[in-house]
Amino acid sequence: MPSTHTSASRVVDACIVRGWNRESPTLSATFDIDRFMAGSGQVDLRDIPWDDVPKYPLTPAALRTLRYFLNTESATFYYLRALMGTKAAMVEPDMAPFLSAWNYEEEFHGRAFRRFVEAYGERVDEGYRGDMYLRRTNVERITDGVALGLSVVLPDAWPSIHMLWGAIAEHTTYNAYRQLITRTQHPVLAEICSRIMKQEAKHFAFYFQQARARLAESAMGRKLAQVLLPRIWTPVGDGMSPTEEAHHALRYLFDGAEGEVIPAIERKIGTLPGLEGFDIFTRYVERAGLKRAPAEWLAVPPGSTPAGGTTEVAPSDPTG
Ligand SMILES: [Fe+2]
Ligand SMILES: [Fe+2]
Repeated sequence: MPSTHTSASRVVDACIVRGWNRESPTLSATFDIDRFMAGSGQVDLRDIPWDDVPKYPLTPAALRTLRYFLNTESATFYYLRALMGTKAAMVEPDMAPFLSAWNYEEEFHGRAFRRFVEAYGERVDEGYRGDMYLRRTNVERITDGVALGLSVVLPDAWPSIHMLWGAIAEHTTYNAYRQLITRTQHPVLAEICSRIMKQEAKHFAFYFQQARARLAESAMGRKLAQVLLPRIWTPVGDGMSPTEEAHHALRYLFDGAEGEVIPAIERKIGTLPGLEGFDIFTRYVERAGLKRAPAEWLAVPPGSTPAGGTTEVAPSDPTG
């Protein structure tokens, strides 16, 4: 509908058309999009015993963290909007199918957490997603604008940052749900989280491989990752939810700057081209002064080894 196009969207369209005539990287050789699409779908929760949810108590800190991830998962729609503004999303054959399926799966992660929270007896307002969008922080609004501008000015290099950002976010959510299992000791939540984690691991594989290929090819992408990313990056969900909620979740799940999970995430991301010594997550939690979660936040004392595993996690990487 050209009559409704803003001048900004005309600029984006012009860049997409220009980019169409260039050769775009095809990454399907290292990520089997058809296999991913064939296995894609909503997380299957048909056999979840929802009536059992309130039988196992959760600490207020656990509930607060669950709400943070309910919001974060439900915000994927808005993140998709930003990705759709990039040339890569428009012209590369794997992108449209992946983004479509990814958004669908993430939507059901949010719905799963909403149903869980409601089954526990908590109320979730019908308009929570719209409220979250309208109340997003100014930093989030500015980052959105910066990202749109850079996707226009640097249509070939910017997607490597988008993919890197996605890889960090997916690795973070994967580990967050692993930690939720350990820290809540709630058997129904553990089952839901473990099913969601299988999908998060696939999402991570896509973004990680995309980031690896693009950073290897783009000196500008590597420069942006080294110089710009540390200045604008914030953890997944921060900005759409108030920053104090992000900080609470990072303490509850990862013990802030005093835990082992964030360095483990950074070690994996640090294997990408140009990202040796990657530590922006650690710098973020150190700047914010985020310390270990108090014992009363957790279902089990720190240091015990409950069912659910350890804190060291790395999603499978099908590329080896
Ligand atoms: Fe998710
Ligand atoms: Fe995901």
